[in-house]
Amino acid sequence: MNKYTFSLYIQSEMEKETEQIQRKDLIADWQSLMRTFIRPEDDASRSTLIKYMEQILFGLNDFLKKHVGITEEISLKELSEKFTESRINKNPEKKLAQVITDLIENIAPHAVNVASPYFVGHMTSAIPFFMVHLKTIAAALNQNVVKLETSKVVSIVEKQVLAKIHRLIYGKSEEFYQEHVQNAQTALGCFTEGGTLANATALWVARNALFPPKNGFNGIEKEGLNAAYRAYDTTRCVLFVSKLGHYSFKKAAGLLGIGNQNIIEIDMDENNRIHIECLRKTIKEIAPKSGKTRIMAIIGIAGATETGTVDPFGKLAEICAENNAYFHVDAAWGGPTLMSEKYRHLLGGIELADSVTIDGHKQFYMPMSCGMVYFKSPTIMDNIAYHASYINRPGSVDLGIKSIAGSREASSLILDNALKIMGTQGYALLIEHGIETTREFAQEISRRPDFQLVTRPELNILTYRICPESMQKKLLQADAAEKRTMNDRLNRINTRVQRKQREAGKSFVSRTTLRFGKDPRDNMVVLRAVIMSPLTSIEILKDILDEQEELFKRL
Ligand SMILES: Cc1ncc(COP(=O)(O)O)c(C=O)c1O
Repeated sequence: MNKYTFSLYIQSEMEKETEQIQRKDLIADWQSLMRTFIRPEDDASRSTLIKYMEQILFGLNDFLKKHVGITEEISLKELSEKFTESRINKNPEKKLAQVITDLIENIAPHAVNVASPYFVGHMTSAIPFFMVHLKTIAAALNQNVVKLETSKVVSIVEKQVLAKIHRLIYGKSEEFYQEHVQNAQTALGCFTEGGTLANATALWVARNALFPPKNGFNGIEKEGLNAAYRAYDTTRCVLFVSKLGHYSFKKAAGLLGIGNQNIIEIDMDENNRIHIECLRKTIKEIAPKSGKTRIMAIIGIAGATETGTVDPFGKLAEICAENNAYFHVDAAWGGPTLMSEKYRHLLGGIELADSVTIDGHKQFYMPMSCGMVYFKSPTIMDNIAYHASYINRPGSVDLGIKSIAGSREASSLILDNALKIMGTQGYALLIEHGIETTREFAQEISRRPDFQLVTRPELNILTYRICPESMQKKLLQADAAEKRTMNDRLNRINTRVQRKQREAGKSFVSRTTLRFGKDPRDNMVVLRAVIMSPLTSIEILKDILDEQEELFKRL
């Protein structure tokens, strides 16, 4: 594990003096400015660049191990005290060689080593090294896919990759894809910055599809919410999602003017899937009450953030059909499971959704940041089309016409080529490793007397907690008040163990709070593991449990 010392960060007085002398020579003149557009300024810069870039490009794993820390030896407060400058220097402060050395020696050690196989707490992990190569090339080309005039073939590539992932989800006919793959009039989806904006795009489409133009009304996008509600005799729009729904839906409901308190969170069943009967009952209670409440969307999750669980899409689609409601699936996490022949059935029914979110920077193992949203109907994105006279002309392939973003990078170049390098089989191996290692991990947790498995893995996420066998037995017999007292104690223990393990800097498992009863006080602090790195083996996971046991015993 990479360790570093605080002294690394503090410049010696001598270094500071040398830097100040150098700084005096640094002047932003036209000649040096021109050079920055053409080539590195001098041999020193070139050799520093080569020294580090060679390590990054050809030995990424070793480079990250050597330079990027996962410990928090310096507190956040101490770190923030080092970054309080709010003025920009008039003349250059540093040469490129110094900047690169600084980044690698002073910043990287304080970044988080998400590539460590012991980092199993979040949906961010090691990525294949070629992703960095592809990202570098995409940055070098600096294409702007908002319009054809700044991207040309890259926009065409984007349409192709959108069709490939659309086909993975919806599996329409060959004729369908021939018709739409390069059709300037239709769109199978779009790239976004991440899952949050992908979900927001889906709900934007859903909202506009619910309040389209009609006699005397120009549609909600033009006239706004008030006029739309008036035109459609509506007082409220609601959305349904399980209590495990990602908070991005709240942001979207806020942005779209729907009001995030109109997201109705439905309880889960014993498998942490949306409780279908509860959903039906809630719809009955809410919808017909006034006849003026309209369902904007029902949302299913393929890989809930906290538990990795998957909702029953077939049943959700039925309910959507009965209520004439838009059906969205948030597969930001679980979407790429579709590439595994062995496990794609876990997402059965996803093809019934009107739209599906998938993140590129999650299980497509792309570098930050890339999200996508796909639509069953190739024309439904017309509901959010925008034109401008200098770009995005009607009928053009300008991708900015149907996109929440304006200017944006060519993430599709990375995804398209990653798919070529990996094939669905390459990704399937990753997905299968994640699912199967998580199952093994669940067995190991159940075998150990100090631990309790809280949510069984469906994909590659599980939650558990420290809860000795004797306490597990007592909890079964305890009344509500005793249960609460014992849980409070367990919550404190799990919080402390998680924190201590993170601070020790060898491993990282995250922590979340799940509700186990109707009373808001019935909260359970659980440890959450997300197994996505192929470098994370069951032996590593056993090490992590050993360390937690050790920390628990020391408490
Ligand atoms: C299920 C789910 N949906 C949406 C998101 C939001 O994605 P992003 O962080 O890429 O905006 C996440 C992020 O973790 C997620 O787990």
